[in-house]
Amino acid sequence: MAVDLGGTNFRVCSVTLLGNSNFKIAQEKTQIPRDLMVGTSKKLFSFMAQQIKNFVETHHSDHFTESSEHRLQLGFTFSFPVDQKAVNKGYLIRWTKGFDIKDAVGQDVCELLQNEIDALEIPVRVAALVNDTVGTLMARSYESPGKHGALIGAIFGTGTNGAYVENLDKLTKMTAPGNTFGEYDKSTGEMVVNTEWGNFDKGMNVLPDTEFDRQLDRDSVNPGIQMFEKRVSGMFLGEILRLTVLKLKNEAGMFSTSNVKENAPLFEQWGVDTSVLSDIEGDKSEDLSQVRQVAEEKLGVSEITLDEARALKILVHAIGKRSARLSAVPIAAIILATGKLSPAETTTKPTHQRRQSLIEKATTAFQSLILGNPPAADTAPAGPATDDEPIDVGVDGSVVEFYPGFEEYLREALREVNEVGNLGEKRVRIGIAKDGSGVGAALIALVATKAALMAGMKKGDL
Ligand code: BGC
Repeated sequence: MAVDLGGTNFRVCSVTLLGNSNFKIAQEKTQIPRDLMVGTSKKLFSFMAQQIKNFVETHHSDHFTESSEHRLQLGFTFSFPVDQKAVNKGYLIRWTKGFDIKDAVGQDVCELLQNEIDALEIPVRVAALVNDTVGTLMARSYESPGKHGALIGAIFGTGTNGAYVENLDKLTKMTAPGNTFGEYDKSTGEMVVNTEWGNFDKGMNVLPDTEFDRQLDRDSVNPGIQMFEKRVSGMFLGEILRLTVLKLKNEAGMFSTSNVKENAPLFEQWGVDTSVLSDIEGDKSEDLSQVRQVAEEKLGVSEITLDEARALKILVHAIGKRSARLSAVPIAAIILATGKLSPAETTTKPTHQRRQSLIEKATTAFQSLILGNPPAADTAPAGPATDDEPIDVGVDGSVVEFYPGFEEYLREALREVNEVGNLGEKRVRIGIAKDGSGVGAALIALVATKAALMAGMKKGDL
C-alpha cells in the first residue's frame, strides 16, 4: 500500500505488481482541507489515518478480519524535507508548499502516522518513508526498464524537487557515535540522493527576481526559503500572475472598461490557480475566446478587450516559459555532475566537494541560460557517451503534465546549457511517471519489508 501527502491531495492506494513493467492500482484521492495544512499535527495525521481506514475497509476488508500477522505494509510518501534516519524513520526539517504545522517540525512523521493508525486499529504498518521524487524514480525504473534504471525522478507539480542515483564512492555518510544511524547497505554500490532542489539558491545569487517574486515571498508562510520552487512550481505560478495583473490594473488602467467583481479571485491571495495559466497558454484561437472565458470564470473579470486578452497571454507565457527553462537547470546539473554524458566527468572527489560540484554545475547552467550563451548547435556531435542507452528522467506533477509546451521549453533550455547541448541532449529521455510516487512508494515498502524479513525480523513483528 502507499499513501501520498505532499500537495493539494491526500492519496491512498494499493498496488499489485503484474510483472513486465505492468501493475494494477486502486486509489482514492481526497483534497486536503486548507485548515488542516496550518493546524496541529494531531489533526492532520488523524485525518490521514481516517482516510486509510476508509480505503482499507473498501478495498481490503479481509485484512480487518485477519490477524496482525497480515498487516498491510505501507509506503508513506511524505513530500517535504526530512532528516531520514532509517527506512521508516524521518524527522521533519521544515514545511513547504503552504503547509505550516509548527508542532510537527522535528518529529518522526512515520511515528506520528503509525500512532494514529494504531489508535483506529487499522492493520497497517508504516514500512517505508519515501519522498515523492524517489517514488517517481522507482516507478519510472519499474515502468521503463532499460539496461539501467532511471537516473532522475523529478516533480514539477505543486512543489518541485528531484532525486537521482549516485555512486556510493562519491558519498560519505556520517555515523554518530553510539548509534547505527549512518550505517547502510552497500551491496548495490549506489544510493538515491534527494536533492531538495526547491531550496536551490536561497541566497538569490543567480535566480531571476522581480518585484512580484519578492512580494509573493514576503507574503508566504516561509519567506526566504524555497526560492527556486517559488519561481517554478504550480503552487506559485498563479500567484505571480495575480500580482502582475493586479499591478497593471491598479497602475496602468488594465480592465478599466471591464466588469471586475468585487470579490474577484484576482483580489484574493492564492486565489488564482495554476490551471489558469495552462488554459490561457493553450488558447490558440484568433479572438482568444478561451482567455476571455478564463478571465471571467477564474479571475472574476468579464468583458475584457482583445488587447487585454493578448496582454494576459504574454504575461502567462513569460511566467510559464521561465518556469520551464529554470526546470532544465537542476536536470542539466545532475546529468553533468554524474558524468552520464561524458565518462571524463566522473570524479572521485569526496562528498562535500561533489555537492559543491553539483551546485557549481547548476550555477553554470543558470548563467549560460540567463546570460544567453549561444545555443549549442542542434547538429553538435554526440559526446563520448558511456553507451547508447538513453538517460532516463521520470517526471510527474500538474505543471509538467498540463502546461502546454512545458517539456519543449525545458528541452530547448537543456540544449542551451552548452555542455549538455554539445554532448547529446537527445539522449535525455523525459517521460511521465503518472502517479509514480504512489507506485514507487509501494515498491519501496515491498523491498523494505523483504529486507526486514531477510535481516531476521519475524513476520508477526511486521
Ligand atoms: C518539497 C519536496 C518535494 C517537492 C515536490 C517540495 O516543496 O520540499 O520534498 O519533493 O516539493 O512535491
